[in-house]
Amino acid sequence: MSASAVIAPAGCLKVGLISLGCAKNLVDSEIMAGHLHKAGMVLTPNADEADVMIVNTCSFIDAAKEESIGAILEANQRRGLHRRHHAQKLIVAGCMAQRFASELRTSMPEVDAFIGLDQLTQIAPIIEGLLARDREEEEAPENFVTPQPRFIPDFDTPRFRLTPNHTAYVKIAEGCNHPCSFCIIPQMRGRHRSRTVDSIVAEARQLVAEGVRELNLISQDTTYFGMDRWEEKAGPRALVDSTRGDSLTYLLRELQKIEGDFWIRLLYTHPAHWSDELITTIAECPKVARYVDMPLQHISDPMLEAMRRETSSQHIRDLIKRIRAGVPGIALRTTFIAGFPGETQEDFETLLQFIEETRFERLGVFRYSREDGTRAAKREGHLPSRTKESRWKRAMALQRRIALEQSAAAVGRKIRVLVEAPGLARSEADAPEVDARVFVPENLPVGQFAEVTVVAAKEYDLIAE
Ligand code: F3S
Repeated sequence: MSASAVIAPAGCLKVGLISLGCAKNLVDSEIMAGHLHKAGMVLTPNADEADVMIVNTCSFIDAAKEESIGAILEANQRRGLHRRHHAQKLIVAGCMAQRFASELRTSMPEVDAFIGLDQLTQIAPIIEGLLARDREEEEAPENFVTPQPRFIPDFDTPRFRLTPNHTAYVKIAEGCNHPCSFCIIPQMRGRHRSRTVDSIVAEARQLVAEGVRELNLISQDTTYFGMDRWEEKAGPRALVDSTRGDSLTYLLRELQKIEGDFWIRLLYTHPAHWSDELITTIAECPKVARYVDMPLQHISDPMLEAMRRETSSQHIRDLIKRIRAGVPGIALRTTFIAGFPGETQEDFETLLQFIEETRFERLGVFRYSREDGTRAAKREGHLPSRTKESRWKRAMALQRRIALEQSAAAVGRKIRVLVEAPGLARSEADAPEVDARVFVPENLPVGQFAEVTVVAAKEYDLIAE
């Protein structure tokens, strides 16, 4: 996902911002935008008139790194083309800067400064410092990144939202304590640290008062929320349990009490922490969307173990049954990795069979990407690209068939949608950016809920009246 931003009266310092990567990075971009705004600087969508360009990068997999590097190089090339913009400064922020700033300082001398997560709130003084002094030609870029970031926003952290008015991301925690062997994110985002329930509720209240109709709760692991503060240490398989301290269930019940008509959407939950208490809470809180995002990554036990997922096939299968029984009509979204090192044909067939049996309402499949610095990168048994590609294609084709059958079965149903743009809406089963769309009559008011009837299906999308 990428976003670039808005507004620009004359006379002020103008900043261009390119935001890459996930919703967590987007919230970081919003925090930078809020601090720029507070310092009297303005965002401009026009890179050619910017005094400073910020590229907020992603570094999750190779393709994301390439996109980030491409965006930095393009920003640099562009300022070279415009003589009056030779003085434009180029700042690289986000996960790639957090992880690789020392290396990038040498390989990308055209960048003026690298900043990490702990510098998000310092963006304005950093810009002022860069503009105040001329950099010598030979001088290396400034590196402000501090290792093991600790930053976590609060309800009053300045923020300028870059999402449409009716939907917002709420970052309830930052960092991750899980040891997944394929993932580099904990090395970039640090240890898990939760916000307080009061802080999140204050932010949510404000957002709802501003007209937000959908609060998307995000973090690296939403189900671990609060557990980092439990008196008795919560291990990697600890269950959501409000008797032990702050928990996702307590947070959901507090958010449910906020007056108004809005959805609370749960993204990035980890199967290891799901408890019956969480299932019951979702069932009892009508504002919590009947939708859950729970990345599973695989179902074969040898693969789950090699991925260090802290769960077993049996645990996952039981959990899905319990969630579907406890919250009837819930849409389950998950992601799998095809072609992990050592994945046998049998492991992969087990995965396909599981997808066929479970019939997830929403599903994404990634081809395994070898990331330096991860345990999985050092494993034996890396598969050729063509094997990863063909497995990915088979899994996607299977899900496409299931999705088509599910869309066709929805015809005739009455559903509630949130209108995103004239003629375009999302159902409760569709998160922003990643899921399907519902085509609706153009006259339905944007940013409001509407009740519609599905009249036809078009691949993953629905058509409603
Ligand atoms: Fe998100 Fe990419 Fe960082 S997925 S957490 S921006 S590595």
